[in-house]
Amino acid sequence: MDKIRLQGMRPLYGTVAVSGAKNAALPLIAATLLAPGTHILHNVPDLRDTRTMFKLLETLGAVWQRSGTTVQVDTTGLMSSEAPYDLVKTMRASVLVLGPLISRTGRARVSLPGGCAIGARPIDMHLRGFEQLGVQTVLEKGYVEARVESPLTGGSVYFDVPSVTGTENVLMASVQAKGETVIKNAAKEPEIGNLIDMLNGMGAHISGKDTDRLVVTGVESLHAVEATIIPDRIEAGTYLMAVGAAGGEITITNCCPEHLPALVEKLRLVGMDIEAREDSFIASCPVAADGSRCRLKAVNITTMPYPGFPTDLQAQFMALMIQAEGVSIIHETIFENRFMHVAELQRLGAQITIDGSSAVVKGISREQLCGAAVMATDLRASASLVIAGLSASGVTEISRVYHLERGYENLVPKLRAIGAEIEQVAA
Ligand code: EPZ
Repeated sequence: MDKIRLQGMRPLYGTVAVSGAKNAALPLIAATLLAPGTHILHNVPDLRDTRTMFKLLETLGAVWQRSGTTVQVDTTGLMSSEAPYDLVKTMRASVLVLGPLISRTGRARVSLPGGCAIGARPIDMHLRGFEQLGVQTVLEKGYVEARVESPLTGGSVYFDVPSVTGTENVLMASVQAKGETVIKNAAKEPEIGNLIDMLNGMGAHISGKDTDRLVVTGVESLHAVEATIIPDRIEAGTYLMAVGAAGGEITITNCCPEHLPALVEKLRLVGMDIEAREDSFIASCPVAADGSRCRLKAVNITTMPYPGFPTDLQAQFMALMIQAEGVSIIHETIFENRFMHVAELQRLGAQITIDGSSAVVKGISREQLCGAAVMATDLRASASLVIAGLSASGVTEISRVYHLERGYENLVPKLRAIGAEIEQVAA
């Protein structure tokens, strides 16, 4: 297993391009199961998780071929409706094949994903949504067996909390159901809008994009489509906070600044200069005459569904706050165990105490933050350790790098190209 080694206190200068969004690519790849034929997806990031999703589609009978960031997916020859445990356990987003398989074949057998580092992450709302469409679901031997006895019929689905993949799964199950489906308290993340655009391009009739009420009018059939994955807002946000931690000035291209309203507001409050253009950011953090990054101000955040502060940027923001002036309170409302990065940040000298679903971060001086050996526990926690390492004095070594590779394309070369002293080495 590789590890990342980085020398901190190197300001960042230059341009970094954002890749396609992992959390848009996963549902859009799954959506190709809905219609036979050859689909063409552009701006597909090459990540551990997208490779897992393509592997899952292969086990179902699909054929795919990558050429740069464009991937052709032919789902004509579907031979199976079963997603095996050994694949699903490595990536919970595999449950996104449930909706398309139910719609295309009337049945699905998908392993329950199980929990993960950040929480139990049940899929009860996905299953309740399917049941509103006339699907029978049975849980047995760790698998969800979904079956449609009578034709799928539209229904009314209400989400207790706006589940991102729950909204995506029910959308995909409903597009060929008879009649109308209304999804209330739907999630509004930009990745869902990307999926809606793709589904409508396949011949679906979905209205209400970017709102919490989606209305689907079922159609008889769908056809293959060409679609483009939107830029990864979480990757863009991670680089914004990297320059906040390290100091310097970078341009972040191929991104959608309007997808990060809450983060940009907070980073301006902490003291960063951020210029948002149509598809890029120019972000800087003043560097003092002696080359050290000026201290940022401590600011509180509460994670919320979109357009609130994204839970996927909470760990990275905490890494930014460990050297801020003052005390920052970070309140996590989406997942019950998303503070795994705290113990690792404390190894670097961070002063953080956890109080229920809040973390209280007391800013320390630059001298007090010292590089150390730390361990990545989950995808966004590992990004948080990189950000902390960029601003710590000395060398930080991050083990279990495979967590990072799940969701960040070419992170080490991208950071090195803007001045970070970082390398990936065999552990
Ligand atoms: C998606 O996960 C993202 N993953 C997550 O990104 C992201 O953190 C999360 O949305 C919240 O924005 C993908 O899109 C592939 P939820 P998802 O259903 O859909 C509870 C990353 O780092 N819930 O919106 O699984 C759930 O436990 C990943 O890229 C139920 O109780 O999240 C959580 O507390 C991590 N029952 C809340 O809802 C359900 O049936 C929101 O979860 C479904 C969810």
